[in-house]
Order: sequence, then structure tokens, then C-alpha cells
Amino acid sequence: MEVSSINRFLPWWSKIAGKMILNRLPVSYSVWQRLGLFRHGAMDQAAYALGVFDLHMARTGLQDALAGKTILELGPGDSVACAIIASAHGARATLVDVGHFAANAPSTYLPLISLLKAKGLNAPDISHCETMDDVLAVCGAEYLTHGLNSLATIKSESIDLIYSQAVLEHVRCHEFLAIQRECARVLTLEGVCSHQVDLRDHLGGGLNNLRFSRRLWESKFFVQSGFYTNRIHFQDMASLFNQAGFAVDVIEMRSWNVLPIRGRQLAPEFRDKSEKVLNVSGFHVLLKRR
Ligand SMILES: C[S@@+](CC[C@H](N)C(=O)[O-])C[C@H]1O[C@@H](n2cnc3c(N)ncnc32)[C@H](O)[C@@H]1O
Repeated sequence: MEVSSINRFLPWWSKIAGKMILNRLPVSYSVWQRLGLFRHGAMDQAAYALGVFDLHMARTGLQDALAGKTILELGPGDSVACAIIASAHGARATLVDVGHFAANAPSTYLPLISLLKAKGLNAPDISHCETMDDVLAVCGAEYLTHGLNSLATIKSESIDLIYSQAVLEHVRCHEFLAIQRECARVLTLEGVCSHQVDLRDHLGGGLNNLRFSRRLWESKFFVQSGFYTNRIHFQDMASLFNQAGFAVDVIEMRSWNVLPIRGRQLAPEFRDKSEKVLNVSGFHVLLKRR
């Protein structure tokens, strides 16, 4: 059985303990990635990256109008696939993450190139590329890895579309509003953001993350253990989007049939939240500047 399969049967508390220990071993990110224990998503898989890109383009209605546009992907994780896909559509991409997690070897991107060609798109020629920087240069793209500080370097009103997949729930709580304000600043007046957000905990897909006090959960030790989510629920996130200057259009809302945690198991700061609020397990929003 693969490690990731075993992982599915482990209780939530053992994942916290395990990740706290494993994350502090002197093992490189690429090794954890191969074992499936610590991964920043699945963007190094061509079909997944293309599926995510197509989903956001379809939801914004921009799939046939990308030529000449500038696209920003927030939190690309394990690859710079967005740069290649955008280029195949005649667009340019800026990718912003909080670290350099993307696969460096240009060969990683060859299955994606084949997939794009099979779809009849004008995939960029990366055959002569020796590094990821070469790939980015061919695509006219940039990969910025300092989160909020990177966003601050982007010119105002220079981005037509911002998208993120399973990212906003990972943005540190104290930075969330600032990140949204930067997104509003860099977006053109007619621009749009498309965000797919997963509110389930990253300990097995429940709400066991709500058992912990804010002080403990936001402590450096917890944040650096590989299971951090900011625990901002839908209503508060919508209010923060508004505060940043966005009008919010909710195009998909997902919820649990039965709340996966009992009230008395919640940390005191979550006990006053209604079941309706806690029951939202994920959503997709489109944001436009007001
Ligand atoms: C669960 S991974 C998802 C990766 C990718 N979008 C996917 O679907 O495979 C979350 C990503 O969000 C990034 N992230 C977290 N906080 C961020 C921030 N403030 N700005 C940009 N990216 C951030 C993480 O580094 C990570 O790459």
C-alpha cells in the first residue's frame, strides 16, 4: 500500500502529530512530494493543471478571449503549468506563491505540451530549454515566490484575470485582507478573479482544525507543520472580499450533509458560529472591482 493510501485511514490527531515530526526531519521537499506526504497540490500533473485552468476560464467566460490577456495565478504550488497553458492561448502569466515549490526540470512539462498540442493549441516550443527560467522566458511569464511582497511589485491595473485553486484557505489569517487588497489593486477595472476554496480541514476532510484555540493554531510551530488552513469561514471571507473592494458572485457552494464535528468539540471561539455557517465545506466565487 502506498503511503498516501495508508494516510487515508489514519485518525486526524495522528496526522497532526506525524506531520509535526516528519516536517522537522532534514528531508527535502521533493522527497516528501514523491512520498505524497507533503505536497502543494497536484499542478505537476498535466491533466490536473489543464483541468484547473480550463475550469476557471470557463467559469469567467473568458476561454475564447484570452489572446493578449495577462493572467495571475495565486498559489500555483508544484508547477508553473499556468505559464505554458496561458502562452498556448496567446496570453501571458504571472504566478505568485510563498516559496519556490514548482518543478524545475523542463521535462516535467513535456506531457502538458503534448496535451495542449492534442487540443489543437499553439503550445510553446520548450525543446531547447534547460531550466525552468528558460521555460518562463519562452512563455513571457514570471514566477514570483514572496507572496504579499511579490504582489506589491506588480503594476496597478495590469492583470486581466486572477485565479486560484485550493489556495485562499492557506493564506495566513493576518495577511488575508492585505492579499485581497493587492489583488484588487493589480486587477484592471474590467478584470475578474475566480477562486475555488476548500474549507475542509487538511487532516482528513472534516473540521478537526476547529478544535484548536487561535493562539495555538496560529503559533509558528503549528503553522510550519504542513497542515495549516486559516479557518476563515465563507461569510467572513465574503466580508473580507467586500472590504478589499470586490463585489462577490458565489457561483458554487458545497456543504456537508451532517456537520463533521460536535459543538462541544469546537474551540470556544467557534462555538457561537451557527451550524449553517460551519456547514459550508467549499465554494467558488467570482470577484469584480466595485
Ligand atoms: C494546496 S496548495 C494548492 C496548489 C495548486 N493551486 C493546486 O491546485 O495544486 C496551496 C498553495 O497556496 C500557496 N499559498 C499559500 N499562501 C499563499 C499566499 N499568501 N500567496 C500565494 N500563494 C500562497 C501555497 O504555497 C501552495 O502552493
